[in-house]
Amino acid sequence: MFVKIIFGIAFGVLSLILIIAGMPDYYQDDNVVGWIKLHKTPATFKDAYMTCYYEGAVLASPINDPLAATLERKRNMTDGVIWIGTHSLFSENDFISIEGVQVNDMPISISYETEPNENCLIMASAGQAQTSNCTRLLPFVCYRHRRDEPVNFKCGTFDNRYKYEPRTGSCYKLHHERQEWLRAQLICSSEGGYLAVVNDEEEAMILRNMSSRRALKISKYTDWEPLFIGIRDWDRKGIWTTVQGDSLDSVYHAWGWGQPDNLGGRQYCGSLLKNGLLDDTWCHVKTLFICEKDPCKARFTHPSTGNPIEPDFP
Ligand SMILES: *[C@@H]1O[C@H](CO)[C@@H](O)[C@H](O)[C@H]1NC(C)=O
Ligand SMILES: *[C@@H]1O[C@H](CO)[C@@H](O)[C@H](O)[C@H]1NC(C)=O
Ligand SMILES: *[C@@H]1O[C@H](CO)[C@@H](O)[C@H](O)[C@H]1NC(C)=O
Repeated sequence: MFVKIIFGIAFGVLSLILIIAGMPDYYQDDNVVGWIKLHKTPATFKDAYMTCYYEGAVLASPINDPLAATLERKRNMTDGVIWIGTHSLFSENDFISIEGVQVNDMPISISYETEPNENCLIMASAGQAQTSNCTRLLPFVCYRHRRDEPVNFKCGTFDNRYKYEPRTGSCYKLHHERQEWLRAQLICSSEGGYLAVVNDEEEAMILRNMSSRRALKISKYTDWEPLFIGIRDWDRKGIWTTVQGDSLDSVYHAWGWGQPDNLGGRQYCGSLLKNGLLDDTWCHVKTLFICEKDPCKARFTHPSTGNPIEPDFP
């Protein structure tokens, strides 16, 4: 009996932790017919735009009354000023939302500053937008319309290019565009994941097969092109850790022949070679990369119930 109670409490705490770990960050909002996420960490307009894009959403603008009301509520939760996704970067003095709605057609009033470089709009007070320098650092709101289904339920993300791999229990997405290591990690993180962490030889072979020349079918791809993964020598002292802070010794650490050699003294980022072995690489080279995502961490609430999504495993 006593043991049962202890177990009950332990299990309760454990499931609470699991629920918190799996909290979605996009909340279904029927008023705006879609999902909303407030980013409290300030960013430039460009980074806010890109973050929403990588998340599968758009930087929100008050294009109709419900969105204006929602943005106002979110603005109120911050220090008081947020970006809206409306700018005149493509044509001076012509403010248009990312979806293409003219600012004149939005249910807000706008005050124009006369300074140069005021090409982006901020929400400064209720119903009131203002032009601003796009390089400021401000919180922002991302929005995804419900018509942009189907969502990827198996991997708990809006992005259908994440594929569930039953052998590892993770989801993966191979990015075909080449990026520097830090940018790659930022993209994976915006997608709700991280640069892939290889736990064992089987996972190394799965990733290697995913990125084989035959699987990729992209031109100018050599058998030696590295694939960035989530390991790094942060302190530049030969101590490698994963992006989740684990020692490399605790995961797959089969280095290629003679590696890590810290060639040129500056190879601090980890990659996977075509032969399935690890290599140290310059962090600023641009190369392909694989993001990994925990399918239990669904990013969004269910489109019809509004509740967190249960993982849907085969
Ligand atoms: C948020 O709303 C409350 C109540 O209307 C108001 O008192 C407060 O000043 C607002 N905060 C911001 C940052 O606008
Ligand atoms: C405004 O933007 C320009 C470039 O876009 C920058 O050089 C300038 O320092 C910015 N001014 C302020 C006050 O942030
Ligand atoms: C990788 O591909 C090879 C050749 O197609 C296959 O024999 C092997 O089983 C695959 N390994 C994994 C782990 O998928």
